[in-house]
Amino acid sequence: MVKMKSKTKWVCQECGYESAGYLGKCPACGEWGSFSEEVTEYGSDVKNSCMPEFINEDKPLSLNEISLGEEIRISSNISELDRVLGGGFVKGSLTLLAGDPGIGKSTLLLQAAGQLCSQDKKVLYISAEESANQLKLRAQRLGVNSDKLYIYPQTLMDKIKSEIEEVKPDFVLLDSIQAVWSQNAAGTIGSITQIRDCCSALMHLSKSKEITIVVVGHVTKDGNIAGPKVLEHMVDTVLQFEGDRYKSYRILRAIKNRFGSTSEIGIFEMLNGGLKEITNPNEMFLNERSQISTPGSAIIVTDDGSRPLLVEIQALVGTSSYPSPRRVTNGVDLSRLHQILAVLEKRVGLNLSKQDVYVNVMGGMEVNEPGADLGIALAVATCASDIVVDSQTIIIGEIGLSGEIHPVENIEKRLNEAIANGFKKAIVPYANHVKSDKIEIVSVKKLMDAIKFSTSVL
Ligand code: TYD
Ligand code: MG
Repeated sequence: MVKMKSKTKWVCQECGYESAGYLGKCPACGEWGSFSEEVTEYGSDVKNSCMPEFINEDKPLSLNEISLGEEIRISSNISELDRVLGGGFVKGSLTLLAGDPGIGKSTLLLQAAGQLCSQDKKVLYISAEESANQLKLRAQRLGVNSDKLYIYPQTLMDKIKSEIEEVKPDFVLLDSIQAVWSQNAAGTIGSITQIRDCCSALMHLSKSKEITIVVVGHVTKDGNIAGPKVLEHMVDTVLQFEGDRYKSYRILRAIKNRFGSTSEIGIFEMLNGGLKEITNPNEMFLNERSQISTPGSAIIVTDDGSRPLLVEIQALVGTSSYPSPRRVTNGVDLSRLHQILAVLEKRVGLNLSKQDVYVNVMGGMEVNEPGADLGIALAVATCASDIVVDSQTIIIGEIGLSGEIHPVENIEKRLNEAIANGFKKAIVPYANHVKSDKIEIVSVKKLMDAIKFSTSVL
């Protein structure tokens, strides 16, 4: 018998880059101190490769030769989840549900399991973190109960694999990928080699047996999905569950979707009886804001997927006690804020060089689209000058470097949402001018004009 030669390799735990020796900084992803040593059997690199077997054809096919199987969608009966998935789970797909600990991933998964079972689907819930008793208690709290729901507390991938083959479920839900391990792979539980091996086994099962699989993955401190890029590349869909742990609402977004758009978001509220869908988020966001106008607050309407969302931006500007003043954002890209501050200084003449600037998007939302620029600029400008943006005014527009206001997409949809929520006036880019008898439209060419038309002196 030929004895396998064992050797070690150093693997970056962030991106999976492999090296023969220790490296302080990963040449692939730039992370420091991320290498750890893993024992590998000679030749196991190929086995551990993340390339799924179903990809390998013997020869190239002409595009016309390829016959398409039907894409079967299965609704989860949770419309906010279906929306983010692009219309329900695709049969035979592998989805990663990522999020911070305690955000509600297990809750969402168990509620989805309950709904799937009520449609007569056989669901196997593999719990690698919680005992059967704990799950039963949670299921009772959530009102989930079905003969079709099988709970399997197990961490060993090889057993999980054979049980899936035995039970032949329609759905497999695994909580979580970081807590399972495989005898075939080297490394400790949660190491990149283990995660990659387990995920590739699941990928193979989902494709070969047409089982729809959802795995939970935890997010590291800096917001990466632990066991990270490799995992994101391997699965079909990555859903990120986020929100403020100390507030009740949660946002689900697709950051990768092989079967649909990534611009949709789903909104939930965490209550005592589990997650409740929020079908009219605007009502909720606007109820939270204070009814008294204060300097430094502006309401914008963003265009997120199929639903425009009303969001409040708040800014605080104050004299700095630091040599270089602080710029802190929550929900807005920091470099975007720097650019807006530079335009405010140069084109509006607002001197912010000795001021700290804090910008916050209320409701734990993230706003990344350029149409929010004008709202951010007005929140900062009004706070710095102690004036207020009229609370019945909605702000829409992208700011260029010379202080000009660029048009945004889907203006009518955004305005309709503002009208539906009782706004009286809208500041919009000049090129987006539309006529409306339901809302007063003020179209502006320059940032300076927008400040003039949207504010009133305290
Ligand atoms: P959980 O789903 O366990 O989070 P994760 O799997 O992402 O770590 O839920 C986390 C929190 O949600 C928990 O601290 C308590 C709260 N929670 C509720 O408020 N209501 C509920 O019905 C449930 C099940 C949990
Ligand atoms: Mg959990």
